[in-house]
Amino acid sequence: MIPTITLGKTDEKVPVLGQGTWKMGLDPAIRDQEIAALRTGIEHGMTLIDTAEVYSEGESERIVGEVIQDCRDDIFLVTKVWPTNGTYDGVRRAAEGSLKRLRTDRIDLYLLHWPSADHPVAETMRGMRALVEEGIIRYVGVSNFSAELMQEAIDALGDIPLAVNQVVYHMKNRVIEHSVKPFCDKNRVTIMAYSPFGAGSFPEPGSPGRRVLDEIGAKYGKTAYQVVLNWLVAQGNVIAIPKAANPKHAAENAKAMDFRLTEEEIARIDEAFPLPENDFVVRRH
Ligand SMILES: NC(=O)c1ccc[n+]([C@@H]2O[C@H](COP(=O)([O-])OP(=O)(O)OC[C@H]3O[C@@H](n4cnc5c(N)ncnc54)[C@H](OP(=O)(O)O)[C@@H]3O)[C@@H](O)[C@H]2O)c1
Repeated sequence: MIPTITLGKTDEKVPVLGQGTWKMGLDPAIRDQEIAALRTGIEHGMTLIDTAEVYSEGESERIVGEVIQDCRDDIFLVTKVWPTNGTYDGVRRAAEGSLKRLRTDRIDLYLLHWPSADHPVAETMRGMRALVEEGIIRYVGVSNFSAELMQEAIDALGDIPLAVNQVVYHMKNRVIEHSVKPFCDKNRVTIMAYSPFGAGSFPEPGSPGRRVLDEIGAKYGKTAYQVVLNWLVAQGNVIAIPKAANPKHAAENAKAMDFRLTEEEIARIDEAFPLPENDFVVRRH
């Protein structure tokens, strides 16, 4: 059973573990396996699915569209607009393209994928507002945003809550803990932790940090990957969205919440993977 969390200042309850889809659809040879993995995740309760218009040039959204056809109402669907489309009209065009590829009539949560180098946050949020008013999207969020930029988005959205900031958060990258997460906690913006396994840089077997994760996992009959997901969610106000193209991984990830790390174990993990000194740096696209 995967616990739920209330999304930002909305009344929406979503599971604390969802499924990422970055790079899905790139290799046609593993398409069926990717579909099977997403279906396995859904069967195990990971009904929040994260994708983006830019992933695999739309192929990732097409895969998600195929997967959700027979269960759309059970899914909390998250997709993202690329910042070059962040004008008032561009956001609408991008959302319409995503709806087509996803073969659905609504997006549950629509995120601005990165801060834009060209378009003011206020304009993109004005576009988002219009989509909410028309029922095309249900909730609005951002991704890769600093505290300052989140404040701009909140001001621009007015009475529509900024529901989510999707940011990189894993054992080797805890930079959001300096200013991004405190802002989110204070303003009730839910953190969606992306690349929870470090996108290929998971602590190596035998490394000091991995030994800590393995030892703690052994006590609960869990893997280091499950310990990491549990640790991320234990930070509070966090949803984690691991990506698994392998159905076995998807099933394993879904079983990461049926144990509770003790305070001592959390402190041990914190010590093994210390906070970096630098704060979050804004990158624009
Ligand atoms: N907003 C943004 O800018 C942004 C940026 C990056 C990512 N994201 C989102 O976050 C999602 C997750 O991040 P990510 O794709 O970067 O990487 P990730 O979830 O940190 O890691 C994915 C890797 O972990 C492996 N894995 C998954 N479960 C495992 C398990 N139980 N045991 C062992 N290995 C396991 C996967 O292998 P298999 O695939 O073989 O199962 C894959 O190689 C993305 O898919 C995307 O939806 C958003």
